[in-house]
Amino acid sequence: MSRLWNFLHMLWYQTTFKPQPLPDDIRLEGLTAIVTGSNVGLGFEAAKELASHGISRLILGVRDPTKGETAKAEFARVAPNCNIRVWQLDQESWTSMVAFAERARTELDHLDIVLLNAGLKRLEFTRSPTGHEAHVQINHLGTALLSLLLVEPLRRTSQKTGKPGRMTITASGVAFDAPIRDVAKPKGGKGIIPWLDDPASFVPGQTRYELSKLLDIMWTRILAARLDPTEVIINTINPGYCQNSFHRVDPNAEMFSKYIAWNSAQGGYHLTDAAVRHPDSHGAYLTEQRIRPAPKFLYTAKGKETEQKLGDETIALFQQECPEANIEKFTKK
Ligand SMILES: NC(=O)c1ccc[n+]([C@@H]2O[C@H](COP(=O)([O-])OP(=O)(O)OC[C@H]3O[C@@H](n4cnc5c(N)ncnc54)[C@H](OP(=O)(O)O)[C@@H]3O)[C@@H](O)[C@H]2O)c1
Repeated sequence: MSRLWNFLHMLWYQTTFKPQPLPDDIRLEGLTAIVTGSNVGLGFEAAKELASHGISRLILGVRDPTKGETAKAEFARVAPNCNIRVWQLDQESWTSMVAFAERARTELDHLDIVLLNAGLKRLEFTRSPTGHEAHVQINHLGTALLSLLLVEPLRRTSQKTGKPGRMTITASGVAFDAPIRDVAKPKGGKGIIPWLDDPASFVPGQTRYELSKLLDIMWTRILAARLDPTEVIINTINPGYCQNSFHRVDPNAEMFSKYIAWNSAQGGYHLTDAAVRHPDSHGAYLTEQRIRPAPKFLYTAKGKETEQKLGDETIALFQQECPEANIEKFTKK
């Protein structure tokens, strides 16, 4: 029933809501933003919108620098005065993520906006080189590690400007369809992440992607509880169903997208809206460019306990598998 309800809700907003770009009077001169997954799709469009509103410096976090350079040429056309840099980032490599964050820490005298947007969908079980299931690695662990490591430069800037830094994580409305039992009651007495890494937990199709987007929402809430919103505001969004190469692995979603999906620019508007507007959105989930409740489970006692468990497991995993990130200093309240 709830899957049907979520589907009808999606149909309703896709056909009745018109995503809005940032108002013309919002100017971003003097600001620096990082956008991950910005060579294509929503990240590309969001970065372009920031550039068109005058942002002074744009860091493109991309897996393939050649693709990043192509995107950079397009942004430079829209905003010739913007200082655009392409930095390599692979969320399947701890070394790459730590190096990326270290560059942000040491090379940027200023960081105001971070859009953690890179992500993928696969319908079959795939393991990343780190040993984790690919959605767990890229969508959850990669996003979570970067979010922790990039807090420091955001906070440093906020102490200079007196304004909070902004971080937005791209989740999805499909998180509402995620099979909760996989996080609330992982099988075999395992933790949440070890269970999701086990091929026995994988159901071919979209459910693992849905779960990974639920983890994005949970992580946003976990991190928000550790951050002071006068220093860093973190929120998460549903950018809507958008027609682009994201659905190339999923013929049904690709076919259906022709009828009701928005274009990537409209999806990108959700990222920039969440990162620039909504000062009251710390820890919040936004859909249709406004704050709405997160999945109901997260407000229950079991949901809160599960969130706590995910936070503890994720941090312990980073300490064990990526000691070079030295996250202890970022995880203190
Ligand atoms: N499209 C939709 O309908 C939709 C709906 C809801 C949420 N979302 C979310 O929106 C975000 C952007 O998706 P999109 O629609 O713009 O799809 P997309 O066009 O496929 O873009 C995905 C981006 O993520 C990057 N990426 C993938 N794996 C990576 C890794 N290991 N390390 C670093 N970057 C990696 C991709 O790089 P490469 O180009 O090198 O692969 C690409 O830049 C994702 O988080 C997705 O879950 C999309």
